[in-house]
Amino acid sequence: MKLPSKERRSDISGFHKLEPAERLEMVKAFAGLSDVETATLLNGLSVTAADHMIENVIGIASLPLGIATNFRINGRDYLIPMAVEESSVVAAASHAAKLCRASGGFTTDADKPIMIGQIQLTGVEDFALAKTRLETNRDEIVGAANAQDSTLIKLGGGLKDFEVRRIDSDIGPMLIVHLLVDVRDAMGANAVNTIAERVAPTIERIVGGKVGMRIISNLATARLARASAVWSKSALAESLKGVMDISGEDVVDGIVAAWYFAKADPYRCATHNKGVMNGVDSVMIACGNDWRAVEAGAHTFSRVLGRPLTWYERTSEGDLRGHIELPLAAGIVGGATKINPGARTCLKILGVKSAQELAQIAAAVGLANNFAALRALTTEGIQRGHMKLHATNIAVEAGAHGSEIETAAQRMIEERNVCVARAKEIILEIRGLK
Ligand code: MEV
Repeated sequence: MKLPSKERRSDISGFHKLEPAERLEMVKAFAGLSDVETATLLNGLSVTAADHMIENVIGIASLPLGIATNFRINGRDYLIPMAVEESSVVAAASHAAKLCRASGGFTTDADKPIMIGQIQLTGVEDFALAKTRLETNRDEIVGAANAQDSTLIKLGGGLKDFEVRRIDSDIGPMLIVHLLVDVRDAMGANAVNTIAERVAPTIERIVGGKVGMRIISNLATARLARASAVWSKSALAESLKGVMDISGEDVVDGIVAAWYFAKADPYRCATHNKGVMNGVDSVMIACGNDWRAVEAGAHTFSRVLGRPLTWYERTSEGDLRGHIELPLAAGIVGGATKINPGARTCLKILGVKSAQELAQIAAAVGLANNFAALRALTTEGIQRGHMKLHATNIAVEAGAHGSEIETAAQRMIEERNVCVARAKEIILEIRGLK
């Protein structure tokens, strides 16, 4: 049974205190999952399915799948599946979403799903003439690209337009044709590469010269997703009550200064963007998307802009407004989203109707994780938040079972001595063996 939309609230109090099975029941009701769909979140991919996906399969590599709560995006509540091995990422996203909920949550938008395919031509003598010829023969080129009777074309996708660029490389000039392909709800690599290979001979004939590479560009600048949110100074101050004595204004200023640091310094910018990608990748992986493509595009985009993927400003009311813009080639059809039943279920939990909607959600989560990291780093530091799960992991590594895990972790945190050797001692003490 699916909850009616007005009851589908993502701010589920005490969600983190429940057992995994209890959380799963709540997500099942939220998204209206069947028993079979629910089981895919526990069983994941079968070896048989995996064997159809890549070569030389011997098993399945697993990751924890968590749910980020509190997200409200464009007025709608979402529970966000995140697959990630790092502790605190899911909690950080949920906390960031909680802190901006009262100010309306996240506002997002995304470009049409237009991906760029590149065709490289060398040995072109007259670039101006080549450009004119390409433009004169635009209809023939678009026609050749879309000639195949594929699902993509039937759905209104395919080559929409192209741009001609001159690149002055170290070994001489090259003419690069950028194919602008509408990939609809797919990530798009297959569609773009197929069209690029199909249309390349026509382009070579029209231009002269020699076709070399025909491949998608992961710098998907025609497919950007954007999100923004306001964190009020009062919510920021409240979040640190009892932890440290700091005003909301100072938290806002600290985060804005942290952003200027990342803008000015590539060493910090890389780590700042890593915090963004903690969120974006976790959603991409949960939903069976090509997260390497999104990563590659994001980092190059940041380099091209000469600034981090997010930016922050102090509003006229003294609150913090954060923004993100990045290329986001997210898909809800094709690729692993088709074969991996767990990924399909994650898409159902999100309830997304289009690739554009998935891209917007991933952008919002990226902004949330980045904000959460900056808030912690400019105030209490990140180690306090990390410590609980870290100590739990250490206790498990040292051989703790059941209630011993929590007890050992708590003791190590109190003693400020979190290591396997100490955990082993504590376990022996709990068992009365020491
Ligand atoms: C850790 O996964 C991510 C952070 O390093 C990001 C940042 O420094 O902004 C905390």
